[in-house]
Amino acid sequence: MEDSVLATYSRKNVSFEKGDGIWLYSNDGRKFLDCTSGIAVNILGHCNEKLVNVLIEQAKNLWHTSNLYRVENQEKLAKSLVDNTFADKVFFTNSGTEAIECAIKMARIYFSKLKQKRYEILSFDGCFHGRSMAAITTSNSNKMREGFGPLIPGFKVISFNDKSALYENINNKTAAVIVEPIQGEGGIRVFPEQTLKLIKDLCDKTGTLLIIDEVQCGLGRTGKLFAHEWYNIEPDIMAVAKGIGGGFPLGACLSSENASIGMVQGKHGSTYGGNPLACAVGCAVMKCVLEEGFLENVRTISGYFSQKILGLVSEFPDIFEEVRGSGLMLGIKTKIENINFTNEAFNQNLLLVPASDNVVRILPPLNITKKEVDLVIKLLRKTSQRIKY
Ligand SMILES: Cc1ncc(COP(=O)(O)O)c(C=O)c1O
Repeated sequence: MEDSVLATYSRKNVSFEKGDGIWLYSNDGRKFLDCTSGIAVNILGHCNEKLVNVLIEQAKNLWHTSNLYRVENQEKLAKSLVDNTFADKVFFTNSGTEAIECAIKMARIYFSKLKQKRYEILSFDGCFHGRSMAAITTSNSNKMREGFGPLIPGFKVISFNDKSALYENINNKTAAVIVEPIQGEGGIRVFPEQTLKLIKDLCDKTGTLLIIDEVQCGLGRTGKLFAHEWYNIEPDIMAVAKGIGGGFPLGACLSSENASIGMVQGKHGSTYGGNPLACAVGCAVMKCVLEEGFLENVRTISGYFSQKILGLVSEFPDIFEEVRGSGLMLGIKTKIENINFTNEAFNQNLLLVPASDNVVRILPPLNITKKEVDLVIKLLRKTSQRIKY
């Protein structure tokens, strides 16, 4: 049966039949501690009761209509996002890639509307913004780009954290700079504060739009609603997905009023984007994340978690090189092949995600408990011991 699925993934030979909080149960009777959260998606754990109830109630009433009509849940979710961020406008999508596509189109049409010939999109090495043609053009990964050419003109990748490249390339020809405050697929590479502030400054001085990609690092993962808040900067456009649906496919492109001036009737659309079902879940996710104490708890538990991981790293200096990340978006750079580590962790029933730069990602649900953190640490230690001895 597996042969019928396009082989674009290297899949582990396991299939899950049930999820509960941080736990996943496979159909061959194993129980796994899930520190992937579907790659930073299930931020409230698997089958969170509140989300399940909202989904069921909404499913009984209405799943899908069309953006030809008003969608009440969409308006509610947009309001919640606008009330809690820099944004004035929201366009809903079904994925991160679509949110990025909307962001890039928005930036280009903004300058077209201003009658300025500015279309260049600048991105950074190691970035990952999705798999559409525009998204792979932002990347410098040969593996992702090879064979798909010609790529889209007017894109340029510059070096991560190279200040002179920033001065050289962000100018009055640039339409937008696109940045992940923390590169996820790139290996949990945190953008240095000064660099991101410099990018913002150069964007402001040259009238360039700043697009922040918070698809992976947003929605509370770093202990603030959005990771860029740690830097005290505001983007013009922001892509969001993954966590906002808590496991239900949902994404959003947020923007300031000004940045959205070109996106008028007929310029963009989506059949499913912002449907009643997805937005009902999105509203419930936002409500949970904004509940008093939720983000504070992410900050507290992540402090405890990273201290424990730092301890582990010094316990096994032959295996680990360094700890990276912010909040519950954690990465350990390994000295051995990261895949060997995640494979052994899998044998110990612990699910982790490899990333570029030989990093092992730890992306637990944001409501992970201290007891569960201790269990993760226990399994990480067991994995390290198995590798060492
Ligand atoms: C930072 C970032 N942007 C965009 C995407 C693409 O999102 P999706 O896979 O939902 O299309 C991802 C996916 O991993 C991501 O991590």
